[in-house]
Amino acid sequence: MAPQTSSAPRPVADGPKHNSLGLRIWHWANSGLVLAQLITILFLFVIVKVKTLAPEFSQVLAEKGVNLPAQELRGLTRIVAHRIWDWHIWIGITISCLLAYRVLVSFRQRGGQRTAAKIGAIKARAAAGEAGATKALWVRYSYRAFYVVLGVMVVTGLILVFEDYFRSIEHWAKEVHEYTMYAVIAFVVAHIVGVFRAEVTEEPGVVSAMINGGEPAEGV
Ligand code: HEM
Ligand code: HEM
Repeated sequence: MAPQTSSAPRPVADGPKHNSLGLRIWHWANSGLVLAQLITILFLFVIVKVKTLAPEFSQVLAEKGVNLPAQELRGLTRIVAHRIWDWHIWIGITISCLLAYRVLVSFRQRGGQRTAAKIGAIKARAAAGEAGATKALWVRYSYRAFYVVLGVMVVTGLILVFEDYFRSIEHWAKEVHEYTMYAVIAFVVAHIVGVFRAEVTEEPGVVSAMINGGEPAEGV
């Protein structure tokens, strides 16, 4: 048996990993915060249903002989809403800083770690007639679309945070922010289902590559 020496060729090229450390940090921090952001909305509009609290409190008090109209209780229920909105705002500001960090990361990625290189490699596989490469290309484009969606959430969210300076467009920003949320939900659901599917079918190890970086990127 041939002795193993340190100069023995390695099965994969040395070089930067497939997913850079910066991208991985951004990915997990951002996904946790986006999920947390969706949870704040779930609490406000579904679980606690803050808007219906005042009439319900008023009804319970009336049964005990205390007459306090819902209108007067709104000040109290607003305290609950404000507590949840405070979380939404601070998580939102952190997501905004993370998006700026993601832009910096894109400048620091090397060779095959760059999105353009990843897309180029998939295009080459598609041109060579590899089955599934066209789908992989659409998955990549969906990431680009998500960055645009996230950008819209951040810009409209910041307008709402600093609404005192943007009174004329505040209403518009609220509408855009609210409707774009559905695009966020659609991406998150499709992405998580897609990633799980890829992991158990054609791309085992895709999730761990987003944790440990994966094999060194090719062509660097
Ligand atoms: C709110 C939740 C999430 C969001 C917003 C999100 C967003 C993204 C984005 C934008 C990318 C592309 C990164 C890039 O290359 O520029 C990505 C990649 C990836 N995500 Fe997520 N993600 C979320 C949750 C998850 C979860 C829960 C998992 C694992 C179970 C996961 C696993 C992955 C993997 C494995 C990739 C790399 C896929 C590939 O190389 O094609 N993500 N994610
Ligand atoms: C990315 C995920 C996000 C989701 C799903 C989300 C969702 C929502 C929804 C549904 C509303 C209610 C809009 C309405 O009342 O019509 C809202 C309000 C708001 N969002 Fe977001 N948002 C996200 C990100 C952000 C970010 C990044 C920021 C800030 C930087 C932000 C700041 C705000 C503010 C300030 C409000 C108004 C709060 C108030 O009425 O007091 N959001 N968001």
